[in-house]
Amino acid sequence: MSDGREISVRVSDITVVAKDIKRFRLQPISGALPLFSAGSHIVVSIFADDRRIRNPYSLTSVGDPSGYDISVLKTANSRGGSVFMHERVTKGTELVISQPVNLFPINLSGRKHILLAGGIGITPFITMAHQLASLNQPFQLHYGSRSKERGAYAESLKEAFPDRVFLYRDDEGTFIPIDALLRNQPLGTHLYVCGPEGMINAFLKAGLAAGWPKESLHAERFIAPSSGKPFSVKLVRSGRTIKVDEHQSILEAVEDAGVKAPYLCRGGACGQCETDVVSCDGEIVHSDNYLDPDVRKSGSKIMICVSRLNGFELALNL
Ligand code: FES
Repeated sequence: MSDGREISVRVSDITVVAKDIKRFRLQPISGALPLFSAGSHIVVSIFADDRRIRNPYSLTSVGDPSGYDISVLKTANSRGGSVFMHERVTKGTELVISQPVNLFPINLSGRKHILLAGGIGITPFITMAHQLASLNQPFQLHYGSRSKERGAYAESLKEAFPDRVFLYRDDEGTFIPIDALLRNQPLGTHLYVCGPEGMINAFLKAGLAAGWPKESLHAERFIAPSSGKPFSVKLVRSGRTIKVDEHQSILEAVEDAGVKAPYLCRGGACGQCETDVVSCDGEIVHSDNYLDPDVRKSGSKIMICVSRLNGFELALNL
């Protein structure tokens, strides 16, 4: 978090857990790591080619509080963070991480919990499934992946919870039966989804159409900041003008300039980085899932962790 203590860690182990997915074990360089609740994530800071990139990753460690585990999918068309983690981070590499934050907690008042994972979206559900089992709460985990070789943790989860984990694979023609799962659930059931944007949107739309209360449908989505043409940002309160590079988010440029800005998810979901727009000479490209359509249209606010400007200069109340 921007206003929390950052923690220095060392990578103590790296394991390939599926095609293009590696698990990194992070040990504190001194002291103990804070405890975290199921569904939490941390933000990992890396320096890649003179740029600082901060990416959120769900914590997947179960049962050993001496370190944190994260799992990283290598994404070729990303800004370089996941490629850096896969190709340049080795055992012994030191990294800086944030304190854990939980934006995807289990609603423990629920009578039953249905977890829907797509691809790397399985990561928050690993701790959630273990917590639900330890609390003796009824749950099912439905996990879809493109193929067996891409289904990280599928076998270990199935082994741990054979009657509660259901696996689906695109290349075998099996898919999560969202509509069927939305039908005939007991009152008080909560549903949680994490995965590709299309899957999350389809699930939320189907849930609402089937009459589910919004409060019972939970989604976690972290959008990576998109790249685009460079532009300038005038920080009106700080009296600074900074440049946002092609592969940088406004938030990263602001932080590099030494100006503090709040954030939690860095993925367009939590609302923490909402910033007032003072003026702008182009079109704001909104990439978040937080602002209302009316606010977007007005051009008065921007989520600086993921959105950017298609223009030359943006003035912000920072
Ligand atoms: S930090 Fe969460 S929306 Fe920007």
